[in-house]
Amino acid sequence: MEKYISLQDFEDAATNVLAKPAMEYFRNGATEQQTLAENRLAFRRLRILPKCLMGITGADLRTTILGHEVSMPVGIAPSAMQKTAHHDGEVAIAKAAQAEGTIYTLSTASTCSIEEVASAAPDAIKWFQVYVFRDREVTRKLVMRAEKAGFKALLLTVDTPVFGIIRSDIRNSYAFAEHLKLANFVEYFSKSDNADDDMKDYVGKLFEKTLTWEDVKWLKSITKLPVIAKGILRAEDAVKAAEMGCSGILVSNHGARQLDGLPATIEVLPEVVDALKNYNVEVYMDGGVTTGNDVYKALALGAKMVLVGRPALWGLAVGGQAGVQRTLNILRTELESTVQIAGTPTVADITRDMVRHESSFR
Ligand code: FNR
Repeated sequence: MEKYISLQDFEDAATNVLAKPAMEYFRNGATEQQTLAENRLAFRRLRILPKCLMGITGADLRTTILGHEVSMPVGIAPSAMQKTAHHDGEVAIAKAAQAEGTIYTLSTASTCSIEEVASAAPDAIKWFQVYVFRDREVTRKLVMRAEKAGFKALLLTVDTPVFGIIRSDIRNSYAFAEHLKLANFVEYFSKSDNADDDMKDYVGKLFEKTLTWEDVKWLKSITKLPVIAKGILRAEDAVKAAEMGCSGILVSNHGARQLDGLPATIEVLPEVVDALKNYNVEVYMDGGVTTGNDVYKALALGAKMVLVGRPALWGLAVGGQAGVQRTLNILRTELESTVQIAGTPTVADITRDMVRHESSFR
């Protein structure tokens, strides 16, 4: 894996490994894909102002997330159907996260089950991404299984009343490979009454469109696990989530896959962080992180951790667990370099004044 020296190298290599429809399913964003581009470009508009002669003796990227120590403030965002990228699927990414001492988030719509992931990566800090289904009992059972399997937090996705429009998926008539199963739902399909190929339709129909803040309360009421709201972009929504008892907010636009024309997540991050300054809530972000420099900027603007979605999928497609580990290690190496040259060797040193918007130099 040493020949890959940037996350872009992995994305380029994934293009050669994955069939075009799968590559486009992973890579593309909603409608005109303006937000997809902005998620990355907005990082480039921020500049780091290093402090010099700081007597740097090394980098220390360790931090704690909801009380758990991680080796660096970079975790894995949930993404559906990971066996589409590599036959080891979710298990490979979870094992990579375990080996690298960071957080893995399993999607509800996974191709390895909650229990498979838990037994393959028992020591990983695992989070479970929750969609609330029309039949609350289905969601409740998934949550109970995640609790029993040792998952440490629930990531409630709040930005998906309906799925966004991804034009390439329509053009490609994209469908997941027949042999891939939504592994968490297998128990609902006894061979006698439901054919496997109905499973994805079945789960699609389960989706609750009419979620409200009451559902956040409901989720809190059925679990002891901390709940993190994923997909918040407005400061007032962040405050609502905090008041409902959420322990974390993930500032996210779903990797630009839901609605186009949204701000880049890094652009709204400071507003959300400021709105929550009197609450005991951790703020994370995802969307467009592809370098250690990006991670640094997000930390400077107040994120406690960033999550990466597509980069983990490229690593997985190219090299399974080893590819994901290499991906995480590239981010680690780049972030270690940045913190030292910027004169802020620990995560706590990275304050907002370390980063300025390009417009402030004109
Ligand atoms: C996602 N994402 C996502 N989010 C979620 O809450 N549940 C899910 O099942 C999925 N599935 C999914 C599939 C694919 C192919 C992608 C690319 C993304 C969104 C994901 O958690 C995250 O918010 C973004 O991927 C972050 O942006 P980057 O890192 O991909 O730019």
